[in-house]
Amino acid sequence: MIISASTDYRAAAKRRLPPFLFHYLDGGSYAEHTLRRNVEDLADIALRQRVLNDMSELDLTTRFFDETLSIPLALSPVGLTGMYARRGEVQAAKAAESKGIPFTMSTVSVCPIEEVAPAIERPMWFQLYILKDRGFMRNVLERAKAAGVTTLIFTVDMPVPGSRYRDAHSGMSGPNAAARRVLQAMTHPHWAWNVGLRGKPHDLGNISTYRGNPTGLADYIGWLGENFDPSISWKELEWIREFWDGPMIIKGILDPDDARDAVSFGADGVVVSNHGGRQLDGTPSTARALPAIADAVKGQLKIIADSGVRTGLDVVRMLALGADCVMLGRAYIYALAVDGEAGVCNLLDLIEKEMRVAMVLTGARTIDDINADMLVRELKQAAR
Ligand code: GLV
Repeated sequence: MIISASTDYRAAAKRRLPPFLFHYLDGGSYAEHTLRRNVEDLADIALRQRVLNDMSELDLTTRFFDETLSIPLALSPVGLTGMYARRGEVQAAKAAESKGIPFTMSTVSVCPIEEVAPAIERPMWFQLYILKDRGFMRNVLERAKAAGVTTLIFTVDMPVPGSRYRDAHSGMSGPNAAARRVLQAMTHPHWAWNVGLRGKPHDLGNISTYRGNPTGLADYIGWLGENFDPSISWKELEWIREFWDGPMIIKGILDPDDARDAVSFGADGVVVSNHGGRQLDGTPSTARALPAIADAVKGQLKIIADSGVRTGLDVVRMLALGADCVMLGRAYIYALAVDGEAGVCNLLDLIEKEMRVAMVLTGARTIDDINADMLVRELKQAAR
């Protein structure tokens, strides 16, 4: 039974998914210290309880560029979403739309832009990696524009992929990976029938549309692996800035100096993120990094925060630490894996309910009322 947003969907997804997929989603890099810190540091943020303030009317909406969000939340880009549920990106985009929040499509999604964008009316956001094949980057940006994408999320913390040791243990990679994946699929018949068979094609839709001649997922993952570009610098982001008319948000900022550089560069926003603990293990959690970044650049661009967010209470904590909006990754994929679009809708409702309780008990009637004054004093000082 699903009661808690933070734990029940994860446990159910673990039962439902072949282990190679569950661990690819659930895991982090190296010893997973940052993955754990993201969750623990956020859980340690204590909020001041306030009472007797007539909290009968709450407004959870927020403006974000030209959009109204029903709650200050967006679905993060998550690669391979279509492996977790049948045509998973379409289902997740529909759930986000019915909740009134943006869906962000990953470059490395299973469904291509052209399949997801027409399935919803709300403009989606699109995430782009820096890849050596600049022809692909141009191609995919043009297609995103043609599909009505408004906001570009440009991921900069993956010039090289982080090592995820769980993947080698689970069969996502490593010796005999293909045979192990087939065996795992056979012992998870619900997934095998609904997603493994009926969810095809399983390639990276945005890349196969560009490269033609679709082959297997492994071929695309190989292409992607060769295409991460460690030579990238701010200078090379300029052509994208010129090309993209809508808001451009830089994802993967964890240091106030980089946040200041993002302002100088002319970015419209940053995502304060350590990629959910999947890149450099040993970085501070987002909860720890966020206050100094907010101090440095708040008001000059939009601040989104992700990594470690599992509940509505976590959303409120991130806002209190200085975010304007929050992104949710793993947590919604667990729900998608368990119950598709309906699972994500239910999770988003649970998150909203948790936010409402937190707002009533902290005396915040609107999203703007959520700020550092809500943090208990010693935390507020440490955060500054
Ligand atoms: C991709 O961004 C990943 O973290 O696997």
